[in-house]
Amino acid sequence: MANEGDIILETVDLRKQFGGLKAVDGVTLKVRRGTLTGIIGPNGAGKTTYFNLLAGAYRPTSGKVLFEGQDVTRLAAWRRARRGIARTFQLTRALSRMTVRENLMLAPDGQVGERVWGPLFAAPQVRHEEEALRRKADEMLSLFELTRLADSYAGSLSGGQKKLLELARALMREPRLVLMDEPMAGVNPTLARKLLDKVEALRRERGITFVLVEHNLEAVFERCHPIVVMATGRKLIEGDAATVRAHPDVIEAYLGGAA
Ligand SMILES: Nc1ncnc2c1ncn2[C@@H]1O[C@H](COP(=O)(O)OP(=O)(O)O)[C@@H](O)[C@H]1O
Ligand SMILES: [Mg+2]
Repeated sequence: MANEGDIILETVDLRKQFGGLKAVDGVTLKVRRGTLTGIIGPNGAGKTTYFNLLAGAYRPTSGKVLFEGQDVTRLAAWRRARRGIARTFQLTRALSRMTVRENLMLAPDGQVGERVWGPLFAAPQVRHEEEALRRKADEMLSLFELTRLADSYAGSLSGGQKKLLELARALMREPRLVLMDEPMAGVNPTLARKLLDKVEALRRERGITFVLVEHNLEAVFERCHPIVVMATGRKLIEGDAATVRAHPDVIEAYLGGAA
C-alpha cells in the first residue's frame, strides 16, 4: 500500500485560457496515491476544464501536470492512458450498438482506431491475447454485476448501469489513476451508491486512486477525502468534509455562483 507521502498526481500553477477567459487560473494540487479526491464547485468553476487538463484532452496555457513524478504536460491523452491514467467516457452512439462485453473488450486506451478482433482468423498469439482480454472482460462483468447483461446492447442499459459500464471500461487496462467527470449525473440513488461502493472497494483493495469531479455535493461530502473546492478557475480550499462545509468562502462561492 501507499505511504502517506506518496504523490501520484500533481499540478503546478496550471492554467487554461479560452480567449480572454481564465477557465483554470493557476491550480496547484497534490493528489496522494490511494485516495478518493473529490472536486466540487459551482457551475463554471473550471472543474471540467481542469479534468480535461489532467486527462490530456486539453493542453494547458501554462503550468505543469506530473504523474508519478514525471512531467506529462505535453503527453497526448492516449500516452497518459498507457502510463496508467484512465478516464471514464460517456458511451457514444457507436458503442451503444455493441454489446456490454464488446464494449469492455474494446476498452479505450485513449486512442481511436484500435485493432478490432477477429478470433476466427487470428494467429495463435493474437488468439491468446483475445482470450486474456475476454477473461479480463468477464472479471469486470462479474465485479460490476453486469454478467447477465453481457450480451445485451450497451444502449439498452439504464443510466446507472451505463455508468457502471463506463467505469468498468476505464478499469480494463488496470490503471493506477482513474478520472471521473460527474459519474453520478442522471443516475438513480441506488445505482449511484453502488457505483461509489465499487469505487471505494477498488481504492481500498487495489490501491487505485480516484479523482472525481461531481455536482452531487452530498455524495462528495460523504465519500471523498480530501475535497477540493474550485471557484472561478481557482482552488478555493482543500480539506475534509467538515472543514469544507464550514468554510465561509465555500458558502459564498455557492451562494454567489450559478449553483
Ligand atoms: N471549450 C471551451 N471554450 C470556451 N470556453 C469554455 C470552454 N470550456 C469551458 N469554457 C468556459 O470555461 C469556464 C469553466 O467551464 P467548465 O470547466 O466547464 O466549468 P465546470 O465544469 O466547473 O462547470 C466556463 O466559463 C465555461 O463557459
Ligand atoms: Mg463540468
